[in-house]
Amino acid sequence: MKITLKVWRQKDQKSKGAFKTYQHDHVSEDMSFLEMIDVLNEELIKKNEDPIAFDHDCREGICGMCSLYINGHPHGPVQTTTCQLHMRSFKDGQTITVEPWRAKAFPVVKDLVVDRAAFDRIQQAGGYINVNTGGVPDANEIPIPKKKADEAFDAATCIGCGACVAACKNASAMLFVSAKVSQFALLPQGQVERKERAEKMVAQMDAEGFGSCTNTYACEAECPKGIKVANIARMNREYLGAMMTSYEIETDGGGD
Ligand code: FES
Repeated sequence: MKITLKVWRQKDQKSKGAFKTYQHDHVSEDMSFLEMIDVLNEELIKKNEDPIAFDHDCREGICGMCSLYINGHPHGPVQTTTCQLHMRSFKDGQTITVEPWRAKAFPVVKDLVVDRAAFDRIQQAGGYINVNTGGVPDANEIPIPKKKADEAFDAATCIGCGACVAACKNASAMLFVSAKVSQFALLPQGQVERKERAEKMVAQMDAEGFGSCTNTYACEAECPKGIKVANIARMNREYLGAMMTSYEIETDGGGD
């Protein structure tokens, strides 16, 4: 295969970026998208040119690092991660445009690499769950209805790649945050800090500068793990419940 690549090149966070065009004539349809860039980078290095910086780690669809915006879609034309996207999804002679995630809360570090530490800070704001110390509990000691267990597991499959933010016209992180709130809110183990967790994670999400959700469902359509927007509705209920409880406490404490 031969392809034309238009790649966003940006020296650092403060520099102005621009697209640079590369003719790539050594592409196999069996290569992953990242392997295709690897081969191009080898050629650039041989020519003493700066290789294209991009994020990756597991290359197995697990870590969520491979955050590339390809031909107008987070992770490209297939609903999967960039590392699991193969060149057979493109046509011979096609022009492919590659950009970093575009969001104020994800500043560009270099070329296609963005800083997604905002997601880490949101998760840290959620904190840990409280568990009794002691021996390992028996697996069947805490009965969890199958439906709840499945919903919690589905929410927990979010890999925090940020495709939901990149897909959203408002750069909203609500699909990500709601998945993280849901995976604990649905399980008995997550009940102790349930309200505090929702309140703190939403507050941190707002502080990071992510936008609001206006129900376009673009996040669900592009999420490589198929996280459902139903989680956003659950997070809104959790948050509202938390805020109402906080208000009651303040009112009670301020009376008399
Ligand atoms: S590199 Fe880990 S999910 Fe793609």
